[in-house]
Amino acid sequence: MISTPDIDRAVAVLRGGGLVAFPTETVYGLGGDAANEEALKKIFAAKGRPHDHPLIVHIAEAAELAHWAREIPPSTHTLARRFWPGPLTLVLKRASGVSELVTGGQDSIAVRAPSHPVARALLARFGGGIAAPSANRYGRVSATTAEHVRQEFGASVDLVLDGGAAEVGIESTIVDLSGAEPAVLRPGMITQAMLEEALGRALGARSSGSPRAPGTHTRHYAPQTPLMVMEVDLVLELASSLVRQGKRVAVLARSARAPLLAGITWIAAPPDAAGYAHDLYANLRRLDAAGCDAILAEAPPEAPEWAAIRDRLMRASAGAAPPEAT
Ligand code: TXA
Ligand code: MG
Repeated sequence: MISTPDIDRAVAVLRGGGLVAFPTETVYGLGGDAANEEALKKIFAAKGRPHDHPLIVHIAEAAELAHWAREIPPSTHTLARRFWPGPLTLVLKRASGVSELVTGGQDSIAVRAPSHPVARALLARFGGGIAAPSANRYGRVSATTAEHVRQEFGASVDLVLDGGAAEVGIESTIVDLSGAEPAVLRPGMITQAMLEEALGRALGARSSGSPRAPGTHTRHYAPQTPLMVMEVDLVLELASSLVRQGKRVAVLARSARAPLLAGITWIAAPPDAAGYAHDLYANLRRLDAAGCDAILAEAPPEAPEWAAIRDRLMRASAGAAPPEAT
């Protein structure tokens, strides 16, 4: 349980330019004072993240938007009223005076009001914006528990607030509202259909004029063990064949039962999208820690509520190849 003294200590760390890892409903964030360039530099250094990858500024409520963004379109308020506090990040034109370190040199800024009670208490008491990327080393699997954060960063974080396992489990949906057409830059558990329903219009496609959202294209969210995503029949076939070659295989299954084969580490993921997302990063960490030669994941369904999960698995598996026969 987090107590008021814990929050007070965290606020003192933030005011002193230090880093506080804190729970949000999506994943844990590695937070620093968004108005303090020294703190922002520490975030990039701790993560090993390139400076052109902008950070999300977390705020307590929509009333603070004007401090960070300019020319705020009405759709912002529609979406904020409907989904904040919650797992939705809005990209807007940045206000003058916002550090380039936050925006990665772009003219836009990403802002989100998280719903986790610890994040809300921290933001309310701090009284300013907290810049926070996901609390993982660059490119790696995001952290959904305080223990995962400690595994990622050790002593380079001044304080870790433990708020239990993150409820949503994967990062927020990012919507760009800085251009002519709203567009989804990163899918999340707030789906395109939910956004369209709230806005009463179809969302545009992401265009060449959309702000860059670095980290949404390339290999990301990746375990160290090569991860491959395939249909269930292929999972079973390849797992057996690799085991016969003396390899150790980890499987993230959804529908099939574990075959009676030694040398397979098997996790049966929840059958529904919300449950699957909740467990996804913890499951990838467990399978990664099993020290296998490959992780085989059963492909998620094509249904819209699985879009964000397909996106994360695709990036986590980008560029991985099956282990060679020896
Ligand atoms: O759920 C989340 O969003 C978590 C929690 C901690 O809030 N945060 C998170 O942060 O996922 P991070 O830094 O791992 O991912 C932020 C993404 C990056 O892909 C970045 O490129 C994009 O947001 N982004 C940030 N500012 C942007 C901007 N001004 N324009 C476009 N994309 C932006
Ligand atoms: Mg991240």
